[in-house]
Amino acid sequence: MSHSTTSATSAPRATFRFRCIACGDLGDATRQDLRCSACGDLLEIIYPHWKQEGARSSRPEDCKAVWRQRRLSFAPIDSSGVWRFREMLPALEDEKCVITLREGNTPLYELPRCSRITGVSLLFAKHQGMNPTGSFKDTGMTVAASFALQAGFRWVACASTGNTSASMAAYAARGGMRSLVLVPEGKVSWSKLSQALDYGAVTCQLRTDFDGCLRLLQEVVLRAPVYQLNSINPFRLEGQKTLALELLEQLDWQAPDHIIVPGGNLGNSSAIGKALLEMRELGLISSLPKLSVIQAEGANALVRTIREAGGKRLIPVPAETRATAIRIGNPASWKKAVRVIEATGGTCEQVSEIEMAQAKAEIGAEGIGCEPASAVTLAGLKKLVRQRFVKPEESVILVLTGNVLKDPEFTIDFHRGELFPASAQNAGGELGKLRRPPLTVDATLGAVMKTLQEAEKSQPANG
Ligand code: F0G
Repeated sequence: MSHSTTSATSAPRATFRFRCIACGDLGDATRQDLRCSACGDLLEIIYPHWKQEGARSSRPEDCKAVWRQRRLSFAPIDSSGVWRFREMLPALEDEKCVITLREGNTPLYELPRCSRITGVSLLFAKHQGMNPTGSFKDTGMTVAASFALQAGFRWVACASTGNTSASMAAYAARGGMRSLVLVPEGKVSWSKLSQALDYGAVTCQLRTDFDGCLRLLQEVVLRAPVYQLNSINPFRLEGQKTLALELLEQLDWQAPDHIIVPGGNLGNSSAIGKALLEMRELGLISSLPKLSVIQAEGANALVRTIREAGGKRLIPVPAETRATAIRIGNPASWKKAVRVIEATGGTCEQVSEIEMAQAKAEIGAEGIGCEPASAVTLAGLKKLVRQRFVKPEESVILVLTGNVLKDPEFTIDFHRGELFPASAQNAGGELGKLRRPPLTVDATLGAVMKTLQEAEKSQPANG
């Protein structure tokens, strides 16, 4: 049995141009380093025909109907939760270049326990960790890797804290391309690295941090015909926009009050913000959610940039956090992120390692789970509620960016009580109550029954 490769329903396709985010220079092609040829800043993709034809030439209700209808199609391009929204994406010349693992299509979960903890009654998690390689990166990678294939590249490359490398290696393999991965040695979860190895990437562990890897990669791509798939690649961000489209569709196009996202290199927050602004411009939504970004205290370049420099110049930091996914001190997309935070009326906040670990265990206790970087969203929400930036009656979406299986070392250390020094463990407090260390028990009925009774006594099943 074979599926048709072409789409069941077609609407007008989106033509596009590249625009520099700093000087506004327009172009139809990119340099090899993906930077503006006039001033060297980052590029974004724009769709001039939305303005020329009048943004509403493809009426919003028609788009929504087409996107819904495609869910009934088995064509790969329609089964993808990214390409299903292709009217909002740059158009490929040939749909045969689409590399898809049926990414997107991620669940929106209610969080009743976390709702009680935070006092926010309408609290949901959009779980991007349910993507094919276990993180949100897949939604951007399907678009950028497809354009790499169309352009005829044989090699793609990225610097990564782990998830980008796993995703890139998978999509490159599916598209018949080779991939080069640069990661900071000893600072990437083996779970993520094992994916890159399995999908056939050439994986280099470098004695530097993520920022050093990215700097080096920018030099490599100027010397070799290798296509860069980091989030400075504007095609990545176009694919990552679909998180917001899919979310709003799941909410029947009623915008929530807040969307909260973790911040590292700041591509994802930029992409989600861009989508929200475009959706409003096209009349797909009538109000804008506030987009807020949460960082780890030890990797808080955006927080410092906004608080200490009014968002006008980047304040880089030496990054250190156990949430290795966001262990980034010199975020490439900081200007884009500042812009969308300001445009949506959002904010940014930082959380401690302990606050993050506690939030991760609380999301785990919902039967959902996520990797440490994703848990900063819940920890940050608690702070935003205390500051009255988020009101109890408002609706909040936490973007969980990575799957719980992405960083088992962190989870095991937490439950064994080895994540923090004993003095910081807070054994009898909230942190202690959340810990479930593995127990070594005699292989007898009596020992297992005793363990069960003790567990019930310390925390009843309906407690
Ligand atoms: N959450 C997870 C699980 C991540 O892997 C990342 C980034 C982020 C959040 C932050 O997103 O960079 O767009 O602000 N991971 C990159 C990587 C850097 O290489 O996998 P961002």
